[in-house]
Amino acid sequence: MENRKFKVAVIGATGAVGQVFMWMLSDHPWFELSYVTASAARVGQKYAATVHWVMPFEMPEVLRDMEVREFNFEAMKKEGVQIVFSALPAAVAREAEPQMRANGFYVFSNAAAMRYDKDVPILIPETNSEQLELIRNQGYPQTGFCVTNANCVTTGLAMALAPLRKFGIKTITINSYQSVSGAGYPGLSSFDITDNCIPYIGGEEEKIEKEIKKILSIDPDVYAYTVRVPVMFGHLETVWLDFEKDVEIDDVISAWENFKEANDLPSTPAQPVVYSSEPTFPQPKYAFWGTPKGMVVYTGRLKKKNGKIGFVLLVNNIVKGAAGGSIQNAEAFVTRFGLR
Ligand SMILES: NC(=O)c1ccc[n+]([C@@H]2O[C@H](COP(=O)([O-])OP(=O)(O)OC[C@H]3O[C@@H](n4cnc5c(N)ncnc54)[C@H](OP(=O)(O)O)[C@@H]3O)[C@@H](O)[C@H]2O)c1
Repeated sequence: MENRKFKVAVIGATGAVGQVFMWMLSDHPWFELSYVTASAARVGQKYAATVHWVMPFEMPEVLRDMEVREFNFEAMKKEGVQIVFSALPAAVAREAEPQMRANGFYVFSNAAAMRYDKDVPILIPETNSEQLELIRNQGYPQTGFCVTNANCVTTGLAMALAPLRKFGIKTITINSYQSVSGAGYPGLSSFDITDNCIPYIGGEEEKIEKEIKKILSIDPDVYAYTVRVPVMFGHLETVWLDFEKDVEIDDVISAWENFKEANDLPSTPAQPVVYSSEPTFPQPKYAFWGTPKGMVVYTGRLKKKNGKIGFVLLVNNIVKGAAGGSIQNAEAFVTRFGLR
């Protein structure tokens, strides 16, 4: 086992997801933050001077003087970058990510652009780490590859459902209450979202249906509504499930409690899904709870009615549902392919 650090780049480092990458990579045991980009207008500026920092805690000191560099493959190679974390908008990612892959980079992306390609995994290490093998179909180890993570709502749902797969999931009814950080920065106009809820998030309901099936290799009927709410961080989801088997509340609790990651990855919590019977739990104000912060999915309000199981979950959309999930995917990659 080699204990070197991998040089990594963050592409789109000034956005909501990019800021989480910067925070989590500022002190990572396996990855060394070596190259940072944003849109062209920021090139040459110091990170702290150009970013509008929206995290609910201080910017780590080591990030302040990092220079925003040009999005240039040769310069990235010269810097020794192997792993690239992409937080680009989907439209930009659609062109840029295949190019990065073609240039030999190992791309871990948050964008939806490549999620539905047959040979591109939508990876959540706790639920489907075997799908990492798909990168061989993209040409790895001779070439670069792209691994995506799921849409943020789907990530939380997949985490809560993975331990329940064994009961045979027939239908999923899900309603989401999604925070504004999910729309990026600056995102929605304060005029539209202050003191309001918006019962439409373009493309989101379709993404949940497609992605949950691909991630968990299941084929349930999915009924989804997604709503934007005036909350800063964390997506809440109410879920009702029908199963092939008769499932009791205690079966669900013990499935969540026994759901532990086999791989010892730095970004994987010891208990990835945490259930509480506290009647008012979970709430978005706990989005940054847990160790590592924001990586735990919380569940509560469990009930059974007419054979259906219902519950509420909370996922931190920009940490577990985005940058933290990508970093965990890269950790799963270097572990599975014996690079450390
Ligand atoms: N927010 C979430 O909860 C969430 C969750 C899961 C997945 N995602 C996905 O993650 C990606 C990033 O989301 P976000 O919310 O962080 O978006 P965002 O806040 O809009 O940030 C986008 C980033 O990309 C940069 N960028 C934009 N156009 C560029 C270009 N042409 N060339 C180089 N850089 C460019 C921006 O730089 P400037 O600041 O200089 O413009 C910024 O750093 C999206 O694909 C999104 O769908 C988001």
